[in-house]
Amino acid sequence: FFCKFHPNMRGMLTVEGVAGGVEPVDTRFEQPLVVPPTRTGADIRLVMKRAEVRMLPHGRRTSMWTYDGSYPGPTIRRRGGRGTEVTVVNRLPRGAGSMSTHLHGDHHASADDGQPTTHLIARGSERTYDYPLVVDGRPEPGSFFWYHDHRMDRTARNNWRGLQGMFIVTDPPSRDVRLPTGRRDLPLMVSERSFTSDNQLTNPFADGPEMVGHHGQMAWTGPHAPPDDATVGDKVLVNGRYAPYLDVSATRYRLRLLNSSPFSSYNFTLSDGRPFLQVGTGSGLLPKAVVRSSVLLGPAQRADVVVDFSGATGQRLVLASEPAPSGTSGDDARETPVMEFRVGEPARDASRLPSRLPSPKLVSPVPAKVSKTWTFGLEGSSHHGSFWSINGRAFDPARVDHRARLDTVERWRFRNTSDVTHYVHIHAEQWRTVLRNGERPPPWERGLEDTWRLEPGEEVEVAARFTDYTGPFMIHCHMLDHEDHGMMARFDVVR
Ligand code: C2O
Ligand code: CU
Repeated sequence: FFCKFHPNMRGMLTVEGVAGGVEPVDTRFEQPLVVPPTRTGADIRLVMKRAEVRMLPHGRRTSMWTYDGSYPGPTIRRRGGRGTEVTVVNRLPRGAGSMSTHLHGDHHASADDGQPTTHLIARGSERTYDYPLVVDGRPEPGSFFWYHDHRMDRTARNNWRGLQGMFIVTDPPSRDVRLPTGRRDLPLMVSERSFTSDNQLTNPFADGPEMVGHHGQMAWTGPHAPPDDATVGDKVLVNGRYAPYLDVSATRYRLRLLNSSPFSSYNFTLSDGRPFLQVGTGSGLLPKAVVRSSVLLGPAQRADVVVDFSGATGQRLVLASEPAPSGTSGDDARETPVMEFRVGEPARDASRLPSRLPSPKLVSPVPAKVSKTWTFGLEGSSHHGSFWSINGRAFDPARVDHRARLDTVERWRFRNTSDVTHYVHIHAEQWRTVLRNGERPPPWERGLEDTWRLEPGEEVEVAARFTDYTGPFMIHCHMLDHEDHGMMARFDVVR
């Protein structure tokens, strides 16, 4: 029974009920937010192992596959230009199989990329990934990356089980810009899971054999075949905890928002209509801070925002996801409370936020001609099963779908010919968004990016210079079921 006059009424939003109706959810924010442990050294060791994690406020802990015993794994914080070696050890239980850890957003060699079928970490073994945090001879700009498993055909399962963590490349010192730091610089990994009555993760995945080697025109059949392979969870978690609260001072906070869900989009809002000041993407600062009343993030997308809690002393503000009005971009976002901020007294604040920001340099000039078009679609028939495709084909790790020359700038186009939204992610480089549907992209898409929302019928053009590394890299949809079910392609950077 839920009480209409619960003090946290602002957190009472609705989700779709099982019967398709709308039923109220009584969200009590009962447990404190936890911030994952931080690692700052040049040599970092992460042991993948099973651990019991407190996710729900009551009852048993949840058995997860973790990086080093926590979910999310430790947050790595490093200054750009300071080379970092991360050794990942596989001590997961039997049946987990071999793993591959990808540092999403970072620029590094193909062999250090944590790709789906190569350089795998078998059970009982380890691999050291080398991240120089350098792009074309310069330190990588301040960024908000994340690491996660990328094993072919099993990425959705492995991420669901818990193989996710955050990686922050700290901002270079600046005289003019001082974003909130310390406790007021909060990485927030938002994800969702479903649980059994015993607080254990449900298993929405049909666990077939590892399917390496017989790809080509692959078709999936069964309960989670495309186009219905959308893994959603009924509980939204922040840093691994369901409906947490955080005591904050009535001052500015930097929230680094990451959507690490397998499928869902969130359109973040604050319950009193307080705006977000977006200062960056996951890949660096924007040229100008943008005031936004909502921030839409799909799988793997990040936003670097500042929220000013001044004037809210004594209030409880709910960070929620609310779908955008129907027919507009983001109307497919979930409707759900996410977490609560309990605002205390004002505090001393040394942050400084000019509207112009020292953002990383964008690729310039942009080539006049598109050199590669990637079409995201759905193929197959009811007879043969269906698969998600790029340029009409399912992923085949042995097939090179495009060759890009080292030290040249390419302009790529994505098109979505299917009738659902996809989130396109490209490995290896950071990109400039040139056009969205033939027009200049919105102000929050004018920094560097690695993951774009692509609605049905949309066309997005992006440009990047290929630097430093040759070899195979991936482009794929970051909805993990789509990625596992064909929607990935390989491009090689060549000399
Ligand atoms: Cu975040 Cu290819 O992945
Ligand atoms: Cu997709």
